[in-house]
Amino acid sequence: MKIAMIGTGYVGLVSGVCFSDFGHNVVCVDKDPRKIEKLERGEVPIYEPGLDALMAKNVEAGRLSFTLDLATAIDGAQAVFIAVGTPTRRGDGHADLTYVMAAAEEIAKAAKEYVVVVTKSTVPVGTNRKVRDVVAAANPQLDFDVASNPEFLREGAAIDDFMKPDRVVVGVENDRAAQVMSEIYRPLYLRDFPIVTTDLESAEMIKYAANAFLATKITFINEIAALCEKVGADVKQVSKGMGMDNRIGNKFLHAGPGYGGSCFPKDTKALARIGQEYASPMHITEAVIAVNEDTKRRMIGKLQDLCDGSFNGKTITVLGVTFKPNTDDMRDAPSLTIVPALVGGGAKVRVCDPQGQHEGEALLPGVQWYDDPYEAASESDLLVLLTEWNEFRALDLDQIAGSMARPAMADLRNIYNASVARNAGFVAYESVGRVGFA
Ligand SMILES: NC(=O)c1ccc[n+]([C@@H]2O[C@H](COP(=O)([O-])OP(=O)(O)OC[C@H]3O[C@@H](n4cnc5c(N)ncnc54)[C@H](O)[C@@H]3O)[C@@H](O)[C@H]2O)c1
Repeated sequence: MKIAMIGTGYVGLVSGVCFSDFGHNVVCVDKDPRKIEKLERGEVPIYEPGLDALMAKNVEAGRLSFTLDLATAIDGAQAVFIAVGTPTRRGDGHADLTYVMAAAEEIAKAAKEYVVVVTKSTVPVGTNRKVRDVVAAANPQLDFDVASNPEFLREGAAIDDFMKPDRVVVGVENDRAAQVMSEIYRPLYLRDFPIVTTDLESAEMIKYAANAFLATKITFINEIAALCEKVGADVKQVSKGMGMDNRIGNKFLHAGPGYGGSCFPKDTKALARIGQEYASPMHITEAVIAVNEDTKRRMIGKLQDLCDGSFNGKTITVLGVTFKPNTDDMRDAPSLTIVPALVGGGAKVRVCDPQGQHEGEALLPGVQWYDDPYEAASESDLLVLLTEWNEFRALDLDQIAGSMARPAMADLRNIYNASVARNAGFVAYESVGRVGFA
């Protein structure tokens, strides 16, 4: 089967590589010439564990190629996937569908024979029907169907998520499109991974509902964490006790500095917007968005308290700035709120992140980048653990405390605890949802 993938970002590239590993013939297209040049040289433009080897294997096997030219890519393809960005539209919170609709029009103009136009990007309910209208208007003779196939992969574990999904969701309007989609996912179907085949609107809604639910779970525990600090409870124990209830589950119950990333912030905003448009308000999601902003601000307050009320003149070392470990993605990371507050408050900010510098340099002006966490922490007044990379999970805290000007730590991922920090020589330690000391 020949597949074309439009957009080679986190989702398009991983999906294209994995589909080629299923045995399909995949051509990936992007309009960014730098990305395509890199890919043609065998380099992966993003950081995603395992992607380079899988990509090389399938290029070598002749099943995977890259091009700037959409017409070449879709020539003879039975399915064309749209995996372009759907960022928040400036001003109103709506998902910006400019890239999706532009891709749909380009596909329509280039396609010559029957094709299924599959939207993998996260798009508001009703978008697949609009894609169908755009394609039909741009090429009235074309025989085609549309399908919705939202993606649930997590950055940092993307290949495993794609190859061993909890489920695949496919929204279609007829059997012909359903057949093409089931052929594409046959390797997963054969291994008993569940495929939910439904209508277009339900498929679109599943994606937003799932992301909003996960964002709600994180935000709920973050709010509980704030209360834990006030009443003297330990949120880690609370999460553990809650998560053991099978109806609740232990995932997404880790208190932290607020959610960020390429999906939750924009998808919660888009869902809230859809609710407003249909006069069916998403009160819970709207509260989640507001509480998440409060959570990030609450973290800044914590850091300020650890700096005796003012960042001015302090040297602060921040470990981890990507929105989560094992990715270089900085989109809507909590660091983009927290670090500028430190810089703006007059602190000298040092930053260390295993993969974040390339993306982060432009986004975090005025900071100094370090490769080594020990070097970064030396002579600082505050150490902030912001992203829980493995590299920061087993630091020699005695060495760090001994080298700091004033050994104080804000552990915003609850990696360590107060007694470990005290024993290592820290004079102040705060985490999230647990009692610290200062
Ligand atoms: N990143 C994630 O973890 C994730 C997970 C699930 C779903 N999604 C959804 O998948 C979609 C893509 O997300 P992403 O993070 O991969 O985005 P991204 O910004 O990393 O990549 C999008 C790519 O599309 C390219 N592009 C845009 N218009 C194009 C066109 N007309 N022709 C060819 N290329 C074009 C861009 O140059 C870019 O390389 C979004 O809707 C997102 O919400 C993302």
